Amino acid sequence: MATSRGEFSSRLGFILAAAGSAVGLGNIWGFPTQTATNGGAAFVLVYLVLAFCLAYPAFMAELVIGRYGQANAVTSMQKMSRKTWQKQFAFIVGFGGVICAGLILSFYGIIAGWMMSYAIEPAAELLGMRGVATWVVSQGDIRNILFAALFMFFTIFIIRKGVEQGIEKWSKRLMPVLIVLLLMLILYVITLDGAIDGLRAYLNPDLSRVLEPDLLISALGQAFFSLSLGTSVMVIYGSYIAKKENLVSLGAQVTLIDVTIAFMAGLLIIPAMYVAQYQGVEIFAADGSLISGPTMVFDVLPALFNSMGSIGLFVAFAFFVLMSIAALTSSISMLEGPVSYAVERHNIERNKATTAIGLLIFAMSALIIFNIEFMLDFIAMIATEYGQPIIAMLCCVFVGWIFNRSDLLEEIKHGNEDVESSWFWKIWPWYTKFVCPVAILMVFLHSL
Ligand code: TRP
Repeated sequence: MATSRGEFSSRLGFILAAAGSAVGLGNIWGFPTQTATNGGAAFVLVYLVLAFCLAYPAFMAELVIGRYGQANAVTSMQKMSRKTWQKQFAFIVGFGGVICAGLILSFYGIIAGWMMSYAIEPAAELLGMRGVATWVVSQGDIRNILFAALFMFFTIFIIRKGVEQGIEKWSKRLMPVLIVLLLMLILYVITLDGAIDGLRAYLNPDLSRVLEPDLLISALGQAFFSLSLGTSVMVIYGSYIAKKENLVSLGAQVTLIDVTIAFMAGLLIIPAMYVAQYQGVEIFAADGSLISGPTMVFDVLPALFNSMGSIGLFVAFAFFVLMSIAALTSSISMLEGPVSYAVERHNIERNKATTAIGLLIFAMSALIIFNIEFMLDFIAMIATEYGQPIIAMLCCVFVGWIFNRSDLLEEIKHGNEDVESSWFWKIWPWYTKFVCPVAILMVFLHSL
């Protein structure tokens, strides 16, 4: 066992680190892309409902597991178990989460690499390096490998430094800048021709679509992905929260930040799509489906930045730098899951574990890059649409059915003396026990 564990130094430190994990490509790339693919506002509505009604309670379950156990997901859940089968179940759920985090990082790093390459493009343009500018944004194995490697290097660098000096310090610095830039871009975009059509598509739901199976499962997957659930990551972050903190309100704040930023990103990107279309970029095919799918953001935003004239180069640079940073505060959390597991369960020294696991995951990224056509979507689907919801559901089952109720109360009472008489305690325990698992299961069966 590792002797001294890391801990977030303050309340704000945790909020920013957890929000840093939650806010990432999922919010600014995934959410708008999914919204555009799944019929606009109807998707937004379902997403908001699922985020607050299913993802938040599940998020709380993971935080509780971690703070109670003061360790990685497997160890924490085993501490909650009394019987042997429960300990085995704990291993399956916890280790499943660790694997899921690794799989997610393997494709996330590739897309984050694209963000970095799109940040280099305007910079190269400004420096008059035309050839470089064109090369970095052209799809190609070498470019993909190079940028995925660079991104993994940064991730490893921060995680080697540990909780306070690494994760917390960087999240604190970078998150606020991202929010300000987003706001400024939204204000700019809605002044452009075509933006109002985009706002309408984003905010005016077609209620007949909300129960479509594809829409539901995508929204559920997106909500769990966005809060980084079902991957052992929030368990380990929960374990770094001091006992004097109020988990209930911390969890709520992080959820709110996460959802707000996704919503803001939609406010930027969906109108930007319509603006681009207005300017002649082809966004939708004749049947109304999205032409470019996952790369939509990379068509629409550069078109938007181009429309700004030469200042657009600076804005493009700032935007993609911040995207890379948002991706980085997420990817460090993905690496922390497997690393903390290796350090605590197998007594491997932190630096070694970080480098070895980082390289292993990078090897997986390389495999995906060389088979990008089918593997990128496939791994993303396995990990985010199946792995995450199932594991998150099992975490709820763990807290609801295996964890002793009085221990649960005692844990939540830390930092929140009066919780017993609060609405949270009246609703959440049975909600986690019955409603969450059943609802998650139902969305699943519905999608099959
Ligand atoms: N939530 C992040 C996003 O929206 C992605 C993320 C970070 C994540 N850590 C994770 C997803 C762990 C799954 C598991 O981009």
